[in-house]
Amino acid sequence: MNILVIGANGQVGRNIVKELAESNHDAVAMVRKEQQVDTLKELGAAKVVLADLEKDFSDAFDGVDAVIFAAGSGPKTGPDKTLTIDLWGSVKAMRYAEEKGVKRFVQLSSVGTDNPDAGGESMKPYLVAKRAADDLLLTTGLEYTIVRPGPLSDEEKSGKIEATTEGFESFENRSIPRADVANVLVSVIDRPNTYNKIFEVLQGEHETGQALESL
Ligand SMILES: NC(=O)c1ccc[n+]([C@@H]2O[C@H](COP(=O)([O-])OP(=O)(O)OC[C@H]3O[C@@H](n4cnc5c(N)ncnc54)[C@H](OP(=O)(O)O)[C@@H]3O)[C@@H](O)[C@H]2O)c1
Repeated sequence: MNILVIGANGQVGRNIVKELAESNHDAVAMVRKEQQVDTLKELGAAKVVLADLEKDFSDAFDGVDAVIFAAGSGPKTGPDKTLTIDLWGSVKAMRYAEEKGVKRFVQLSSVGTDNPDAGGESMKPYLVAKRAADDLLLTTGLEYTIVRPGPLSDEEKSGKIEATTEGFESFENRSIPRADVANVLVSVIDRPNTYNKIFEVLQGEHETGQALESL
């Protein structure tokens, strides 16, 4: 399958492209700057498309079979970009997917979106935006999987996770390497038992494939 990776130049996104290069799928890497193209090709992207989430990026969906949305405005911008990128960028991606007949949509979300009011003032706009995007995804006809990782770390891939559709009681002092999150996002693409599900994920004790199979 051709998998459109939105946010491919990001820290998780680059790991997704690497994972796809080692899988039986092809990565179509969406980046917003010309100077990022060569890096993504070197990481193994079969195709790189230049597009910006704040503009029309529908062309990126041509010839695509599935989408992984892993973009985000990041902590250095304000709530305006949280709205236009984390929320509206994701909603536009869902609409383009529907218009272009791309059925499968994997959304990188976050723990804490179950209750944004509990997230603290600085996190609240982000958690509200992500929760709203997740809720809108449920109303589409897309075959979605919403993956909500805990705090991300830059440690090496462990291959061991804990995943739950019930939500963790606490994720205090816990995290998950970005490389494991990328592995999970790629692994769910063709696992039908994860279709139309939302789950939280942290680093854990269970081999990733087994943990996903039990969802
Ligand atoms: N940090 C955490 O602990 C945590 C926890 C749970 C979930 N998450 C989620 O995980 C996501 C990915 O994390 P990360 O560490 O990989 O973030 P990241 O490195 O900041 O990657 C985000 C990517 O989104 C791209 N992007 C931003 N605006 C765009 C636009 N207008 N058009 C196209 N692309 C755009 C960025 O492009 P450029 O490379 O050009 O800047 C970047 O490549 C976060 O955004 C967040 O939603 C994070």
